[in-house]
Amino acid sequence: MLEIRNNWFKSWFDTKYYHILYKHRNNEEASYFIRNLVNYLNIPPNSYVADIACGKGRHSLELSKFDLNVWGMDLSSNSILFAKENANDRTEFSVHDMRDPFPQKNFDYVFNLFTSFGYFEDSGEDYKCIENIATALKSGGYFIQDYINAKIVVSNFPQNETKVIDDVEFGISKIVNGKFIEKHIHVNHGEFEDDYMERVKMISKHELVEMYSKVGLKLISVFGNYNLEKFDEDSSSRIILIAQKI
Ligand SMILES: C[S@@+](CC[C@H](N)C(=O)[O-])C[C@H]1O[C@@H](n2cnc3c(N)ncnc32)[C@H](O)[C@@H]1O
Repeated sequence: MLEIRNNWFKSWFDTKYYHILYKHRNNEEASYFIRNLVNYLNIPPNSYVADIACGKGRHSLELSKFDLNVWGMDLSSNSILFAKENANDRTEFSVHDMRDPFPQKNFDYVFNLFTSFGYFEDSGEDYKCIENIATALKSGGYFIQDYINAKIVVSNFPQNETKVIDDVEFGISKIVNGKFIEKHIHVNHGEFEDDYMERVKMISKHELVEMYSKVGLKLISVFGNYNLEKFDEDSSSRIILIAQKI
């Protein structure tokens, strides 16, 4: 049980059911967010960028449309297979665990988008990821992290809900368990039934910035949604942090 709890992210994100449940997190959303970020950061064409925990590569592909060279990596081999099928001359995808040192370095920008962080029981492993990201950046390069605003997630909790998407029934219950927000997901799809779990650590903006400062990342700006409006802990849907390697 402890093994399942600690390694849930290896299995759940690799299933088709994760992608069905989150199908509204689509290319259109990625396109809008990336356009806003590229404009705000004024990213020059031909820059080298990494998309850490890229999933099926929706942000990577959008970045490549701005003539950027993108390395997308993810732990899920099914997602990377999908990303490779849609790759172009500017994109490269690999299966990689973000806790391990990155095989590529010298990036101008590193992205970590849509809550692709805070999964690990041991906070030392969260720190390891941030350290790997800082090491992979060129001096003066930027790190862009898009994380949940836990305060809002918890205050908006429907504790239990049932959703039917593409003929799949998802029975979902959310709880706070220690420092984690846990989503228990019961999947019912014809003959198939199974239980999954998703858990994300409640890490505040302050705690993220503290981790950054230990690895030489200096906070530049903080936004609260994909329109890049100002962050407000009591109302923003996201915490979007932009930091620079000093
Ligand atoms: C919420 S999804 C977001 C995916 C993608 N960024 C997007 O917006 O579509 C989180 C991703 O983190 C990946 N992931 C989880 N643990 C990981 C690890 N240790 N190393 C690399 N990727 C990981 C999952 O496989 C999943 O694709």
